Amino acid sequence: MAGSTRTVRVDLGERSYDVLVGHGTRSELAALLPSTARRAAIVTQDGIPLTVDPGIPCEVFTIGRGEEHKSLATIERLCDGFAAMGLTRNDVIIGVGGGMVTDVAGFAAASWHRGIAVVHVSTTLVGMVDAAIGGKTGVNLAAGKNLVGAFWQPSGVICDLDALSTLAPREMRCGLGEMAKYHFLTGDDLLAMELVDRVARCVQIKADIVGADEREGGRRALLNYGHTLAHALEITSEFSLAHGEAVAIGLVYAAHLARALGRIDDARVAQHYAVVGGGYELDTALPAVDPERVIDLMGHDKKALEGLTFVLDGPTGVEVVPGVDPAVVLEALTAMAER
Ligand code: GLY
Repeated sequence: MAGSTRTVRVDLGERSYDVLVGHGTRSELAALLPSTARRAAIVTQDGIPLTVDPGIPCEVFTIGRGEEHKSLATIERLCDGFAAMGLTRNDVIIGVGGGMVTDVAGFAAASWHRGIAVVHVSTTLVGMVDAAIGGKTGVNLAAGKNLVGAFWQPSGVICDLDALSTLAPREMRCGLGEMAKYHFLTGDDLLAMELVDRVARCVQIKADIVGADEREGGRRALLNYGHTLAHALEITSEFSLAHGEAVAIGLVYAAHLARALGRIDDARVAQHYAVVGGGYELDTALPAVDPERVIDLMGHDKKALEGLTFVLDGPTGVEVVPGVDPAVVLEALTAMAER
């Protein structure tokens, strides 16, 4: 085993799997593959900093960069390739890359022969603490992001921290935005931990939530803390604001909204600024937005089943709060803009 590896179990009965976190953990890949696999299809992108050795014959499939390649056309091209190489139901797909790669590789695995094993090697911080864990897979349609997909759990996940040394600062910031969210889902002082423990703890928090609510009937929605405003900001900025950057702002907004609803006090709002802005040095300022448009977009968020729905902090912790009054949503936007 690579030095200082942390192993986190995602507990899902007979579909349980391990997530290996540490430097050099890609060397453990062969051990995570199903024993039936005779061949592997590696799905990756140009420029991914890690190469992997599955220890069995393999073919490499490269998908394009950019959301437009997260498409059904890419899935069809991959499956044509699997057919050409004769990939069987006993074989394995390996996704090597960030969230886009693992979402696409996972959906291809869910679809190929009605489902074959997939192992993810995550190379971005967002992927390690979120996208590669928990089995959400999918692609975009013109009508919206991630509208077609499946829950398809991997057989194992590798988070090789070596990949982070080459991550562009912006990609790193996006990961930190997702990481900041975990500070508020538990009382843990994640900032006091060294990176390997912090990533492993984030994975553990997600694993516990997924283990309790795999298909997002309830608790899993907590992983969307900060995401309701974030999704709206991504759209109003025409995606010039990256997801994790928007989540950082969304986390602080969620605190303002919880304060406006009397769920938390000023000190807890300040704690959000301290973690997101102070601890992770992420931008917490609300960009100039049309509040009516933002509120309208938040009302149409695909998670919003009963009016304006938010994940909000409160006296008993973070929970899903449906039917929030638009006037209070506006009041919190104003409070944040004026701070
Ligand atoms: N990214 C949120 C989830 O996996 O549920």
